[in-house]
Amino acid sequence: MMLTISDVHTYYGAIHALKGVSLEVAQGEIVTLIGSNGAGKTTLLRTISGLLKARQGCLNFLGDDLRRLAPHAIVARGIAHAPEGRLIFPEMTVEENLLLGSHQRKDRQALGSDREFIFSLFPRLKERFKQMGGTLSGGEQQMLAIGRALMARPKLLLLDEPSLGIAPMLVQQIFACFKKINETGVSILLVEQDAHLALKTAHRGYVLETGNVVLQGASAELLQNPQVQAAYLGK
Ligand SMILES: Nc1ncnc2c1ncn2[C@@H]1O[C@H](COP(=O)(O)OP(=O)(O)O)[C@@H](O)[C@H]1O
Ligand SMILES: [Mg+2]
Repeated sequence: MMLTISDVHTYYGAIHALKGVSLEVAQGEIVTLIGSNGAGKTTLLRTISGLLKARQGCLNFLGDDLRRLAPHAIVARGIAHAPEGRLIFPEMTVEENLLLGSHQRKDRQALGSDREFIFSLFPRLKERFKQMGGTLSGGEQQMLAIGRALMARPKLLLLDEPSLGIAPMLVQQIFACFKKINETGVSILLVEQDAHLALKTAHRGYVLETGNVVLQGASAELLQNPQVQAAYLGK
């Protein structure tokens, strides 16, 4: 296992948002976390990347205890996060936004080839290289957020609602890229409200409800699960 999370509890003050979550991501996997609005998906990603501190439980990534590490140290260990709402810098160019993702890397000579890989995934970013981030469409900003995370050369990529507010055609393109990214050896933990799309993309999935994992399994099994179909697939 690459990432092993067990019995994690995270709070916002008195609000108990994660109530003992356990989840694993193996080397080379795409794992999805599905669940309704407010289930705790973003909270879990923010707990993994160190932006929130778990009050209880274990988060182990390749032998390191993530609870002991600051967010920048977690990035340096190989976890990059493309956050919900994208959060790119609107007053900086595409080039500058991408460069920010790489600021901790020592292997500066590899940045050029990584940028070329990102452009091969998202040619629009190349076309808009000198444009301000804020002038991009929602879908292009999502590509930029993913590109910026890839510039950290992660071993594990955390993606929070990459389809949110994006034109359906771009959503298809972006999700097709997740498989290409995965084929380069990057594991992915994908949070997504579109359960059908998420399960079509991932190898395995977890269903989160009000801070608890209620179901888990291979994507193909979850797609056939009557509970999942009724609650998340509109069947
Ligand atoms: N900054 C915050 N302060 C207080 N409560 C929060 C905050 N962010 C999220 N919550 C609460 O934590 C729970 C999980 O939220 P979140 O992780 O954002 O869910 P999801 O990403 O699955 O929609 C919800 O009940 C939400 O209201
Ligand atoms: Mg969320």
